[in-house]
Amino acid sequence: MFARALRRASNDAIARTRARGYKVAVLGAAGGIGQPCGLLMKMNPLVTELALYDIAGTPGVAADVSHVNTAAQTKGYAGDGELGAALKDADVVIIPAGVPRKPGMTRDDLFAINGGIVKGLVEAIADNCPNAMINMISNPVNSTVPIAAEVLKAKGKYDARKLFGVTTLDVVRAKTFYAEKAGLETAKVDVPVVGGHAGITILPLFSQATPKASNLSEADIDALTKRTQDGGTEVVAAKAGKGSATLSMAYAGALFADACLRAKNGEANIVECTYVESKITDAAFFASKVTLGRDGVDTIHGLGSLTAYEQANLDAMIPQLQGEIKKGIDFVKGA
Ligand code: NAI
Repeated sequence: MFARALRRASNDAIARTRARGYKVAVLGAAGGIGQPCGLLMKMNPLVTELALYDIAGTPGVAADVSHVNTAAQTKGYAGDGELGAALKDADVVIIPAGVPRKPGMTRDDLFAINGGIVKGLVEAIADNCPNAMINMISNPVNSTVPIAAEVLKAKGKYDARKLFGVTTLDVVRAKTFYAEKAGLETAKVDVPVVGGHAGITILPLFSQATPKASNLSEADIDALTKRTQDGGTEVVAAKAGKGSATLSMAYAGALFADACLRAKNGEANIVECTYVESKITDAAFFASKVTLGRDGVDTIHGLGSLTAYEQANLDAMIPQLQGEIKKGIDFVKGA
């Protein structure tokens, strides 16, 4: 077993040194998430070209980030006229463009503004880098991903394997809260989170968490589930009108983009929870464990066995998720 682990680590190292290098574009790069996410991508050894796009402010952000002594050639692009050049032949496009929540708002309240922003950006992706893996961060993710799918379909450029809603922050939160409560080493904890990325559609599967914690009661699991679902709202309230999660989201976004890049680079066994077109439930898009390959989604894994509590939560979320998916589709189709 040790020998196999060693061989895998050495294969991974070889895959990394053979990297051809990739172009990553961040759209919304001057924002609260975009700036730290751009910095983290500049530090990623698989990135050789980094395009930082926003409607304004990116020349400054790019000048700043470009001084970090890593390989990625970094350039800022500002305004509609430079969007095509920012995207040209990108391998991975990260989208944290749009407005964040203020206290009292749900993610769905952002739909009208962010839906239009995402639609325009994805049209440009279809025209300039149709083969890119798209990492959608802009909320409401449950609807912006279906919006992106419809835009790409209308352009004849839809590849379901390459469109991802980034739900990594839910996983990051579930791991942190679970480790803290169970007294486990945070870095060693794994918790799958399935469903979507809003309220009750966020479902951490603590029964499948590793390592197993024997000291948690049903009430603890319920509290951990609710805290994971409300993690974003916890940050929105603490920031008191100054936005939503940005630093932890940039970290989570960089983790997911790194997984996409490593998969593109031929590394095996890359498994992430992410919101993709899916047939494992009655919702047309659903987040679950996905194995990533060079061309994006390789295998969508089933949900495994659920506790009665998890099954009830799953059943309860599906109608909401279906409604939010339909809202995204209708937005593009003009229904
Ligand atoms: P922010 O307001 O700090 O930054 C957003 C940036 O998008 C701004 O720089 C703005 O100029 C830019 N922008 C607006 N229209 C644009 C366009 N047409 N093209 C390119 N850029 C454009 O907001 P923040 O905090 O960075 O959040 C961004 C988004 O990420 C929000 O929708 C937020 O709800 C979402 N989010 C998603 C999370 C997730 O887990 N998926 C977690 C936290 C936030």
